[in-house]
Amino acid sequence: MREKINTLLSEVEGFKAENKEQLENFRISLLGSKGKIKGLFADFKNVPNEEKKEVGQLINDLKDKAQDKFDEFKAQIEGAGVNFNNNEQDLSRTPFPLEVGSRHPISIVRNEIIDIFSRIGFTVSEGPEIEDDWHNFSALNFPPEHPARDMQDTFFVKSESGDIALRTHTSSVQVRIMENSKPPIRTLSPGRVYRNEAISARAHCFFHQVEGLYIAEDVSFADLKQTLLYFAKEMFGEETEIRLRPSYFPFTEPSAEMDVSCSVCSGKGCNVCKYTGFLEILGCGMVDPNVLENCGIDSKKYTGFAFGMGIERIAMLKYKVNDLRLYSEGDIRFLEQFKSAL
Ligand code: DAH
Repeated sequence: MREKINTLLSEVEGFKAENKEQLENFRISLLGSKGKIKGLFADFKNVPNEEKKEVGQLINDLKDKAQDKFDEFKAQIEGAGVNFNNNEQDLSRTPFPLEVGSRHPISIVRNEIIDIFSRIGFTVSEGPEIEDDWHNFSALNFPPEHPARDMQDTFFVKSESGDIALRTHTSSVQVRIMENSKPPIRTLSPGRVYRNEAISARAHCFFHQVEGLYIAEDVSFADLKQTLLYFAKEMFGEETEIRLRPSYFPFTEPSAEMDVSCSVCSGKGCNVCKYTGFLEILGCGMVDPNVLENCGIDSKKYTGFAFGMGIERIAMLKYKVNDLRLYSEGDIRFLEQFKSAL
């Protein structure tokens, strides 16, 4: 009896299964209802009484070992065919709970702006961040002596011609679009821009803008106003009012700056709007005919409007952020607050 048990024990210990079939044979031959271990229990009655306790123990140990062996290979064989659609079996997964990241507030607001304008037919266009003088300044009617071209404002990139710079605004993308397509044009250009500014709570050397451009026959200033009113209400709420103040940009005539009623005090006056009831959010105007001509568009046939806004500024108003530097410092405590805004 003991010999039999020992033989089976070494059989169990030396057992290896490479596939389901071998494992199943092992189970039937040892653990099955007609298996060898069952057979041992049947022979047990012939064991002398004084040995029963010890032999019984040996058989039970053998049975446990066989069961462990079976379980071990079962897990191995099933694990090899992991079903990755079933997360519970994917052993390569990181342990729960999985921390879900959050979208950056600039991306959230950029996507929202695109979403609002795409509902009225605007597409999205992109252009390079390293620009030449023509696209960033000359085609946009900037006179040669304009202060924006100065080293004080613009980051120049070393080049043989000396006229390559980091774009100072996304208006450069308007030029590229007008040069390369025919009206009607209705597009937005979101992107990063650079200016040589000292970094502070209110200024940064890089930030993000969205440029809007609409060129077709008979586009009027009234179209511009209505488009911007629609945008302001979608972005800041139905009760939002807008105010256009005359301004100057080289590439638009007439030009204006747009304010929205302060959402903190509903226009009554508070420290956020400096007691004016309004907050400035963008520049806009009718595209100057010179700019249309510079880009190969017939200014007698077509008119258009353009606008440009800073995404950081809109996000600051929407989320009450009071320091521009927070956007680029990567502080998890700041970023985590935008989880629900995904
Ligand atoms: N490019 C201007 C800036 O960076 C913003 C701007 C103003 C864009 C008026 C426009 C516009 O298209 O019409 O300050």
